[in-house]
Amino acid sequence: MVNAFHVEREPRGARDIDGLRAEKMDRDEKIITLTIDGVEVQAREGSTILEAAREYGIEIPTLCYHEELAPFGACRFCSVEVEREGKSRIVASCIYEVEDGLVARTDSERVMRVRRRLLALLLARCPNIDLIKDMASRMGIEPQPRFKQEKEECILCRLCRLCVRACQEIVGIGAIGFAAGGINKKVVTPFERPSNVCIGCGICAYVCPAGYIKIKDVGDTRIIENWDMEFKLEKCNKCGKYFAPEAQLDYIRKKLNLPEDALQNCRECEDWSELLPEGFEKVTAPES
Ligand code: SF4
Ligand code: SF4
Ligand code: FES
Repeated sequence: MVNAFHVEREPRGARDIDGLRAEKMDRDEKIITLTIDGVEVQAREGSTILEAAREYGIEIPTLCYHEELAPFGACRFCSVEVEREGKSRIVASCIYEVEDGLVARTDSERVMRVRRRLLALLLARCPNIDLIKDMASRMGIEPQPRFKQEKEECILCRLCRLCVRACQEIVGIGAIGFAAGGINKKVVTPFERPSNVCIGCGICAYVCPAGYIKIKDVGDTRIIENWDMEFKLEKCNKCGKYFAPEAQLDYIRKKLNLPEDALQNCRECEDWSELLPEGFEKVTAPES
């Protein structure tokens, strides 16, 4: 699948504590100290337990979270157990902010119970989705026939909404939304007609954890099967490869006030980084 917008990510991993403190102090931010899974960690005030955990290489599974989007807090996959003054409770780590002295467990008995229940439900209702199957098999969960089978997209879409949020927050367009309510809720273009604002960028498909949004490039055309739309692809002036929809390139040029002849070459043939201002790096180049 071609990802028209490439979301750059920094590599994650355990970080040197002194380095982290120095970096944060430089930015004049308050540092919070808490404990996650018995490890003392430091995090910027206002950051979440999930962000703090990931800085230290502590993995917490997520479904509706994407680091480029505002937290949504719907799926509860990222549940952790937090303890304060002798009382403990389960919270969603992607929206729960760090607090000084907080003790969090990402793998306690209670947390694993919550996660198993969610996964068993999803596995029963969405048994064909690789992501769910993988997560379930890692936790030793077999499909249970006791849940009523729904249309697969209904339950996952209700929990995730990543495509709609990405189209709004990253691309800045909002070409898709949810139609109908209840179990028939699904992602569509307005009135289920071809959208006149969609630019064929493909980031909605890129972030979808279930592979529901189907995009393919055939010759000089990009097809989004879900909303029955086609986009003419632009050819690289240097290598001749079709690399991005015209509509997407026009959108970037207009948004950034670039000249008409900018972005004529694919990123393999030309470094676009000088054209893209800071803050636009999330919306960069197509991948082939
Ligand atoms: S189509 Fe994919 S990304 Fe969009 S809401 Fe459904 S599962 Fe989430
Ligand atoms: S392909 Fe269309 S719907 Fe999908 S993110 Fe891009 S503009 Fe939005
Ligand atoms: S990832 Fe936190 S609630 Fe979905």
